[in-house]
Amino acid sequence: MAKLTIRGEHRLHGTVRVGGRKNSALPLIAATLLADGSSRLENVPRIHDVATYREILQSLGARADWDPVHGRLTVHTGALAPREVSYHLATAMRASYYLLGVLLARFGQADIPLPGGDKIGQRPVDQHFKGLSALGAEVWIDRGIMRARANRLRGATIYLDVVSVGATIQLILAASLAKGTTTIQNCAREPHVVDVANFINAAGGHVVGAGTDTIRIEGVDRLVGPIHSVISDDIEAGTWMMAALATQGDVLVENVIPTHVTPIIAKLREAGAEVLEGGDSVRVISRERPRAITVKTLPYPGFPTDAQSQMTALLTCAAGTSYVTETLYDDRFRFASELARMGARMRVEGRTAVVEGVESLYGAPVQATDIRAGAALILAGLGAVGETTVYGLEHVERGYEHLEQKLLGLGADIRVYDRQGTAVG
Ligand code: UD1
Repeated sequence: MAKLTIRGEHRLHGTVRVGGRKNSALPLIAATLLADGSSRLENVPRIHDVATYREILQSLGARADWDPVHGRLTVHTGALAPREVSYHLATAMRASYYLLGVLLARFGQADIPLPGGDKIGQRPVDQHFKGLSALGAEVWIDRGIMRARANRLRGATIYLDVVSVGATIQLILAASLAKGTTTIQNCAREPHVVDVANFINAAGGHVVGAGTDTIRIEGVDRLVGPIHSVISDDIEAGTWMMAALATQGDVLVENVIPTHVTPIIAKLREAGAEVLEGGDSVRVISRERPRAITVKTLPYPGFPTDAQSQMTALLTCAAGTSYVTETLYDDRFRFASELARMGARMRVEGRTAVVEGVESLYGAPVQATDIRAGAALILAGLGAVGETTVYGLEHVERGYEHLEQKLLGLGADIRVYDRQGTAVG
């Protein structure tokens, strides 16, 4: 298991540049399979999930040329075929489920093992199935494999019972090649939904309303691979912003769209940070211990669930008692017991964590259980007294690019070890 050791109590200071958004890049990579010819994606994050997705594309016969220096992925779909995706690749992440709608729309058939991803509670796919069925597909689960068949998808009006980013993007992808008009109601409004719609439109499709709760898609017969730049990662940006407050540091986060991190900025200000917004940057300055606050996760533009763990970690050292309510996932406080090893005083009551701030945490060995929980433990370790070892670093590397270099660049005292226990970097 890869691990990271941190000697805490170093104030982070300096500049960090955010990469492309994971939750945009992955559906965009899936979307390239809808298009004839070649698509080029720019600003693709150098994260493990992208490498896995590339393997999936290759297993389906597509060519996926990766230029890590420029974060550029070029996909050629000439030899693409609707093969069954392997269990190991599909279960390495959640976003593999987008191939269900994509291969179905392109070939009339798709066989994708149920996806994996962070273990943060129940994560059903019923809305994906409901939507694809409404588009005329037969969709079922056969011994752990999602199977879908259709002659040609046809447009429909679909009301989503829950606001789901995954289902909204799934249905945009599938409907883009359907016959006729699809209307999706009660959509997710995340900027990555807009990013996917922009890609489809650049490829010759017709998607309107992305970013609102009703999206209309006019299906086309053919899409042609465009050049598209992935939007920047709000959660990576938010993590660095919160790290500044966790260490009473001064961090300039570049390549961020400030309006995408409005709720994080608001909460950091409430907690006592000075936040300066630039055109495509945010600077967070903190000189003292954070103040206790109340946080509740909600779909965009509410406070993102993917930033909840890091915020909770930061609040373990706030002055006073904080309340953090998680409304999206029913098991997203698993890291609480790990923070307790570092001296955090918190209890989970239903969907709310009650966090009694302590003066400071102390270093301890801890285990990352998912991407954001891992980031939260790193934040805790950065501010703690003594040495922290975060095991399970591979979870974090699924979603954070150049983690080690970025932390070192901000003055953290850290060391990364690979699975063999050898120090890397
Ligand atoms: C996506 C992200 C994940 C992120 C999460 C929260 C991808 C591939 N995954 O996950 O990284 O942590 O958003 O931002 O982008 N729901 C249903 N039925 C469905 C689909 C969803 O009940 O068919 C529920 C979920 O259980 C959850 C809520 O709707 O409570 C939101 O889910 P959704 O926005 O789809 O997130 P995920 O795809 O789980």
